[in-house]
Amino acid sequence: MTALLIQQFLGELDVYMRHIVDETVPLPSDFSVMLRYPMGWVDENNQPYPQHTGKRIRPVLLLLCAETAGQNWKAAVPAAAAVELLHNFSLIHDDIQDNSPLRHNRPTVWKVWGEPHAINAGDAMFTLAFCAIESLVNHGCPTERVLQVWHIFNRTALELTRGQHMDMRFERQAVVTVDEYLSMISGKSAALIATCAQMGALIGSGSAIMAEQYREFGLNLGLAFQIRDDILGIWGDPKVTGKSISTDILSRKKSLPVLFGLESSEALGRVYGRESFGEADVHEAVAILDEIGAQQFAHETETLYFQRAVAALETAHPSGSGADSLMELVNGLFTRKA
Ligand code: IPE
Ligand code: IPE
Ligand code: MG
Ligand code: MG
Repeated sequence: MTALLIQQFLGELDVYMRHIVDETVPLPSDFSVMLRYPMGWVDENNQPYPQHTGKRIRPVLLLLCAETAGQNWKAAVPAAAAVELLHNFSLIHDDIQDNSPLRHNRPTVWKVWGEPHAINAGDAMFTLAFCAIESLVNHGCPTERVLQVWHIFNRTALELTRGQHMDMRFERQAVVTVDEYLSMISGKSAALIATCAQMGALIGSGSAIMAEQYREFGLNLGLAFQIRDDILGIWGDPKVTGKSISTDILSRKKSLPVLFGLESSEALGRVYGRESFGEADVHEAVAILDEIGAQQFAHETETLYFQRAVAALETAHPSGSGADSLMELVNGLFTRKA
């Protein structure tokens, strides 16, 4: 049942996202390929190449919340498309901002077409996300609720840029506190995951109170999700994550393991303080992080937020056929390797 429901979600989501990307306004094919490639539908020559999509966890989460809060996932499909489009916009720009050459096991958009085109493709993806929100009105969502969703979505997009701003500023900030780090990741990652849970519950049930309870769940899940991304960014298998493992340290990101390392080891501070920085410095930094148990520390913090997410979800009382799938999704994220 679980797998079947998720397959149904993914099928409808794919059709809807293709409709938004391909049909909102006519785009020349040398431009639309720059949108279809990061979605994982084609290769850089616009030929079908479907094995490179992301995990689609945000839209699946949103639809499961719509289903478990109000047994109404179909009405939420445009919103699910919107969060995945906004997420993909953020990845296109993030890869430029982080100087990342690889995503989904292939070159990033800026690596294939250069930064100016990648910025423009990201802008188009961002706008298409808002077009998807607008289209909720054609799916039986009352206008007043669409406006509520739109309000949440606008603020989430802004939160995302606030988080990205802090993330980039921290590259040059020698001391970053755990509170500053949490504020940064709540903007760049957790806000959107919280919004998936909240918008899904709101569209599904119409209850703003229930939607707030789902948001609390999503926020904690999102914080845990980003901490796991930090861990995988250093110790993950690049063949499984599809991303390079040295990028975070090379750009001197203040990820949670690094924050712990800088607090516990003066040696790491010296490595991070070097003028020029290369692969050998990355190896040295990772060896220090291994020695002081930085991975374990980050994993314990991740576990704490997962536990808070599960407790908040219980308060929201998810019900119906999607409840088991939602728990499975949460547990799957806790043990994910990609
Ligand atoms: C990556 O998100 C960016 C973060 C917020 C950590 P995902 O790991 O969900 O990316 P895809 O969509 O599966 O590639
Ligand atoms: C995650 O950024 C948040 C956004 C993409 C907005 P990261 O830079 O931590 O994520 P990855 O590791 O590149 O996917
Ligand atoms: Mg990045
Ligand atoms: Mg980043």
